Amino acid sequence: MSTDRATFGSKLGVILATVGCAVGLGSIWRFPYMVGENGGAAFLLVFIICTVLLGLPIMITEFFIGRHSRSNAAGSFKKLAPHTKWPLIGYNGVLAAFLILGFYAVVSGWTLEYVWQAMSGNLSGKSAADFTTDFQAFSSSVFRPILWTAVFIGITHYIIAAGVEKGIERASKIMMPALFLILLVLCIRSVTLPGVKEGLTFLFRPDFGKITSSVILSAMGQTFFSLSIGMGCLITYASYFGKDTNLQTTAVQVTVLNTLVALLAGIMVFPAVFSFGIEPTAGPELVFITLPNIFEQLPFGSAWSFIFFILLALAALTSTISLHEVATAYVHEEYQVPRKFAAWVVSIGVFIIGVFASLSFGVLKDFTIGGLTIFNALDFLTAKIMMPLGGMMICVFVGLRIDKKILKEELTNHGTIPFYFFHTYAFFIKYLAPLAIGLIFINELGIIAY
Ligand code: PFF
Repeated sequence: MSTDRATFGSKLGVILATVGCAVGLGSIWRFPYMVGENGGAAFLLVFIICTVLLGLPIMITEFFIGRHSRSNAAGSFKKLAPHTKWPLIGYNGVLAAFLILGFYAVVSGWTLEYVWQAMSGNLSGKSAADFTTDFQAFSSSVFRPILWTAVFIGITHYIIAAGVEKGIERASKIMMPALFLILLVLCIRSVTLPGVKEGLTFLFRPDFGKITSSVILSAMGQTFFSLSIGMGCLITYASYFGKDTNLQTTAVQVTVLNTLVALLAGIMVFPAVFSFGIEPTAGPELVFITLPNIFEQLPFGSAWSFIFFILLALAALTSTISLHEVATAYVHEEYQVPRKFAAWVVSIGVFIIGVFASLSFGVLKDFTIGGLTIFNALDFLTAKIMMPLGGMMICVFVGLRIDKKILKEELTNHGTIPFYFFHTYAFFIKYLAPLAIGLIFINELGIIAY
């Protein structure tokens, strides 16, 4: 079985692949729209608190499980706790990966439409209102978004089935820093726009009155989604880490980079939102209607938008690969079917979900589940329920089942590197994290009942 599992060639490869899994549409597309929908800086503050107190410790814990057990999201629990119900945590993760990929592929498809539009010169010479109506016309249409969704799933499928992750790893060595650079350029352009004061105030000056239970749940969900935690993806990746990979510093690096990218995305989007009179609460379309306006303000605007959307598509691709891998590895290993067949099962299933998610911006707009469109319901279910629940159970599992000595051995590479705050960390995952996540759930349920 191990022959067709991916391996990471170099230290940099490990970090890049894990950063690639974490950094994606979550930071650049989802983060700004969540900030916009949840009252700005108040959301950012809770997001950062969740990242430090929950995100980082849970990531370290997933790294522990993955490298210690050296198997996939479900298999790792079977190995560490045979003949128990703990592997249910892994199944929850696999199902989450499958559902996320369904709606994530739709947004990934949108990035391809913008690459296409930039190439054909259609993005220049338009007003802010035009960008909004054009996007709405596109996203609510039937065929085009579904076509791009199919193309994106097809590319992901090809990479997974042909096992060419190495090429992607190599490409992301250039693409990731390039994406970072272009985000910086766009931030600079954005903060020289007239709406800068309003935009940065919205993003950075918290109005504590806006911290409601639903804002807290959304911020926690964003932390999980954006760091790819709580669903076994990082367990799977860590199972490929080398003996000498420093799990603690890798987790810190991934968390810091991911948060930095999200902050840059926020700084890029909000001054522009206020300059061009766009509603911060526009939802999933926010980034797609804001960015073309910034490109319009740059010399060679179409070229910039072309490069940006290619890089964004690549950032999305490194995440869709990781999501697909979680589901494919599971089907392949658990049902003992050939890997290629498993990949087809996943791709076809995901495409079907993608079709419904895409149509929920148009013809299925009025079909709602608990007041949410199919797209939003998938997002809600995975980011706000399945991932935090998975994260909570991962902490409970390690807290209850794993001997602290073994935990420390693995996290210090058998005593060769220090772990200064080990006891604080162990306390966090055993008590604080499960309690905090539990309380956030209960609090939100109370509100729903109310
Ligand atoms: N963290 C990714 C992003 O922010 O775009 C999304 C994601 C990838 C979530 C992989 C979960 C996952 F397993």
